[in-house]
Amino acid sequence: MFDQATTLRRLMEEARLPAPFAGAPATLRSFGSAVPSTDKKAPRVITVTGGKGGVGKTLTTANLGLCFVREGMRTLLIDGDLGLANLDVVLNVRADSTLDDVLSGERELKDVIVTGPEGLRLIPASSGMPKVSELGKMQKLVLLDQIECLQDDFDIVLIDTPAGVSKNVQYWAASASEVVLVATPEPTSLADAYATMKVLFQTNNETVFKLIVNMAKSDEEALRVYERLSSVAAEYLQVKVDYLGNIPLCDSVRNSVRERAPYVQRYPFSAASRGVRSLAREILFNSDRPQPKGTMQFFWKRLVSGQHNELMS
Ligand SMILES: Nc1ncnc2c1ncn2[C@@H]1O[C@H](COP(=O)(O)OP(=O)(O)OP(=O)(O)O)[C@@H](O)[C@H]1O
Ligand SMILES: [Mg+2]
Repeated sequence: MFDQATTLRRLMEEARLPAPFAGAPATLRSFGSAVPSTDKKAPRVITVTGGKGGVGKTLTTANLGLCFVREGMRTLLIDGDLGLANLDVVLNVRADSTLDDVLSGERELKDVIVTGPEGLRLIPASSGMPKVSELGKMQKLVLLDQIECLQDDFDIVLIDTPAGVSKNVQYWAASASEVVLVATPEPTSLADAYATMKVLFQTNNETVFKLIVNMAKSDEEALRVYERLSSVAAEYLQVKVDYLGNIPLCDSVRNSVRERAPYVQRYPFSAASRGVRSLAREILFNSDRPQPKGTMQFFWKRLVSGQHNELMS
């Protein structure tokens, strides 16, 4: 079988890269053996984004993650909000080492994973660390390679992203097989969700987005958000929006933030908890599961094909 390692080796040869791996961590130097073959079941990698700040990306990621664990999924969260990391705060876990230590070469990615509530695993970031877009090429490749090396240990990986649609967000979206947008009924959120789709379509050729409407006052209001977004997306971008469902506006969410506990744990019978549970089931059992892109392949191809490498520069 023509596995991913073979592809990477060929791409490297084609690129005639001059032994750039001399100082790289073992996983990358020996990627021929470190990269699992594609016939193993790859985890679902889902990037959670949305454009506008404060729409609920982080809380949705944390609570969805817990729901996945309860459905028997080995679940990993990655805090991709490298500038203002806060998944560890929301989950109330202590992070002694973070992605920062991986990027500086001091630790392997698997060594910074912490265990949160109910066995949910987290790769924390530290506030103030450089954005992914500010990392060197080698650091980006090392990070992607190490993420991919974890693939046998998890069924599902959720990546929380910062607000905006910076290169940082584009990078995380490119490394995932699915992009979930979180939007609220506010017009500014709709505009930002649309802008996010447009940029990810243009930069990553992302053509399908999954939508979670957060903080809606009713199912009808949430459905209207979906209808508006999907119709403009189809008309102006030719991209498809799949509706996953909604998490209602709910006091228990704010209370749980103050209490530093995920709301599905603290307020299991609240409307928000019911909403996120049914979203988790929708994602696991009903929504389309696209083929994994093969993160390293995706980046290597861009790198060696001479395409404009905005994500890598
Ligand atoms: N369903 C909800 N009902 C009520 N309040 C909510 C709900 N979801 C989120 N919030 C409120 O919105 C705040 C922001 O949520 P969160 O931190 O998850 O947003 P974010 O999109 O990750 O923000 P940022 O862009 O800054 O990373 C929460 O602290 C909470 O008070
Ligand atoms: Mg956030």
